[in-house]
Amino acid sequence: MDLVVKNARVVTGSDTFESDIGVDDGKISAISPHLVPSGAKVYDARGKIVIPGGIDAHTHMELPVMGTSSADDFYSGTVAASCGGITTIVDFVDPRPGQTMLDAFDDYRKKADEKVAIDYGLHMMLKRQSMGEMAMIPELLKRGVPSFKVYTAYKKRGLMLDDPEILRVMEEVARIGGLVAVHAESESIIERLIQENVSAGNTTPMYHARSRPPAAEAEAISRVTRLAQEAGSRAYIVHLSSRAGKEEVERARTRGAETFAETCPHYLVLTDEVYARSDGRNFVMSPALKGTQDRAALWEGLKAGGVIETVGSDHCPFTKAEKDWGRDDFTKIPNGVPGTEVIVPLLYSEGVRKGRMTISDLVRVTSWNPAKRFGLDGSKGRIAVGWDADFVVIDPNKRVRLTAEALHSRIDYSIYDDITTDGYPVLTVSRGQVVMEDGTFIGERGRGRFIPRRPAS
Ligand code: URP
Ligand code: ZN
Repeated sequence: MDLVVKNARVVTGSDTFESDIGVDDGKISAISPHLVPSGAKVYDARGKIVIPGGIDAHTHMELPVMGTSSADDFYSGTVAASCGGITTIVDFVDPRPGQTMLDAFDDYRKKADEKVAIDYGLHMMLKRQSMGEMAMIPELLKRGVPSFKVYTAYKKRGLMLDDPEILRVMEEVARIGGLVAVHAESESIIERLIQENVSAGNTTPMYHARSRPPAAEAEAISRVTRLAQEAGSRAYIVHLSSRAGKEEVERARTRGAETFAETCPHYLVLTDEVYARSDGRNFVMSPALKGTQDRAALWEGLKAGGVIETVGSDHCPFTKAEKDWGRDDFTKIPNGVPGTEVIVPLLYSEGVRKGRMTISDLVRVTSWNPAKRFGLDGSKGRIAVGWDADFVVIDPNKRVRLTAEALHSRIDYSIYDDITTDGYPVLTVSRGQVVMEDGTFIGERGRGRFIPRRPAS
């Protein structure tokens, strides 16, 4: 054996048991008490918790936005992810103006393959410019891309599709058994509020949130889940941020629509009060942060039986200098915040330790469900013999203050530096290799692999 983890308290999405874990050639080869290491590297996990490596199915590494790019590239972003207990990311291909989806996919493979420190997959952003490329959807599936993201907002950036276009995409993706991920916010509501606020001189970051109220999310979710049901397609609502939005997901599921939802760490631990801070612009992302009741509803939704199946980060950070472009006007702030490194620590500390979820809930929403929904089942998302040896050891006694210095993203501030976690990942294993130990990245640039995915069953 190459690696034996001794005395592990292994947590699955349904139970917890004590065992040793053996690893050979990047795969889990044995789960049994009292394994004999015979020459293998040994890690004693006594007193610690072992969970499957996190799957962050929502990242934007080196994403072009407002003439700059999100601050983490596929190297720094995957280093940060691995240091927080993530072993697989799924990023979004963003075709450049005039570029086909297939060419954009090839470009992303080229830039990511030589940088990624952990395994990765790709979704495709299906923008208005690609509406003539529906024939490429089956081709993209052959390359391992069964999931496509559409936007109901961001018309000026060329991202928004109108309802007939969304319906068409959903029909085409349904034909391949794929998944349509939706950024669901109402362009009509948002644009009207932005214009009203800017004309009235209300340009501080708080008005970013006031221009994107819960109703904007709820209206779009209600509409796209109807469209998906009509098209016979599965819909995955990304970055759910509000109670009203969650209620629309519940309604859709009640009427039989195959609707799944994701929320993000920032919506679980922050509220819109931060926009009143002097550094409020650093917290600007879309959808915007909401109130305490919304936050509580999202935690409820993550529990077993709740409608929120996954936590993805929407990792898309910008430097302080870039956020400063919107010092006097919230419409000029590049939207996005960091998050991939804090998913597991925050769910453990703010969720499990504070009694808002069980440790098995954490495993379900960070690995089991993303693997299932995104066609990674069979290799990723479980500690099981024959599956990839992707797992994380959490030390319940390690406390970490989430400062910029403690985190690994290439930005010069932290939106979480008021939080000190109770418990933290201390070992991350990616396909059998230890890539993080005690907060230090010890993996390799380019060792991660592209994981072709298939439609979920
Ligand atoms: O504010 C967000 N969600 N930024 C991520 C990139 C995008 O525009 O979707
Ligand atoms: Zn996103």
